[in-house]
Amino acid sequence: MKNKVTKAIFPVAGMGTRFLPATKSVPKEIMTLVDRPLVQYAIDEARAAGIEEFIFVTSRGKGALEDYFDEAPQLEQSLKDKGKTELLELLQSTNMESGQVAYMRQHKALGLGHAIWCARHLIGDNPFAVMLPDDVIAAEKPCLKQMVESYEQTGGHMVAAMEVPKDKVSAYGVLDLKEDMGSMVKVKGMVEKPKAGTEPSNLAVIGRYILAPTVFDHLSKKQTGAGGEIQLTDAIAADIDTDAGVYGYRFRGQRYDCGSKAGFLQATIAFGLARDELSGELEEFMHDILASRKAAE
Ligand code: G1P
Repeated sequence: MKNKVTKAIFPVAGMGTRFLPATKSVPKEIMTLVDRPLVQYAIDEARAAGIEEFIFVTSRGKGALEDYFDEAPQLEQSLKDKGKTELLELLQSTNMESGQVAYMRQHKALGLGHAIWCARHLIGDNPFAVMLPDDVIAAEKPCLKQMVESYEQTGGHMVAAMEVPKDKVSAYGVLDLKEDMGSMVKVKGMVEKPKAGTEPSNLAVIGRYILAPTVFDHLSKKQTGAGGEIQLTDAIAADIDTDAGVYGYRFRGQRYDCGSKAGFLQATIAFGLARDELSGELEEFMHDILASRKAAE
């Protein structure tokens, strides 16, 4: 199939300082949302979209993340011996085949664009996905799958996009729209973390991308942008005037910013409520705690 996307890069080199002291010894991506590490949600979404090769751009101290992808034969045997088939299947569903996972170290924290560039030799001539595991997206049809399907029509570069409140826009990459076709927009400009008052719109880039390998040509120039970092947004924007162009895709789904404490807690509550075995107890607790806070006011 033309434009088939089978590789995804997961930049996971960040230090997770917003979650200190937890991240002193636990990589942020291993922190659990209900009972699964954050990164598992991104992997499941990637798998559902047809991704077969998973490339993690890591840094010092991310050993627990690499271990997480190993098979656990002793644990599996013990679950088998005890007849715990459901748990065994759950565990096995997270196993990766040998050769499906690759790790690339980002030796210096020079920005998201630089992290992606570090994986350049593992990407061939085909378009590939980038997934930021901090952005957790709950959706009936997984977000990356929605994008892969639309990408078959567009080609070029595609970024997930979402309208965000005015006062939050400057925390994101922001799109300048050339043409609005509903779920798809054609982009004529992109700015990383625009200064308040200079935002071209309130349509923000969310952490899912399908990129053509031309992005590496721009990243290899190592030009710095917002915050003095090599920005992925700038490398994508450099291709706006090409024939292939750049598209924003308004996905259907609920996004949680698990890079922030408030977002992580919201995702924990939402994913907890979505679980049959937890929702009753959790709802009752939330009702009671909110009522007692109100009574104390
Ligand atoms: C990154 C990207 C930004 C994007 C955001 C989405 O920023 O650089 O363009 O809008 O992810 O979560 P970060 O959150 O790493 O500062």
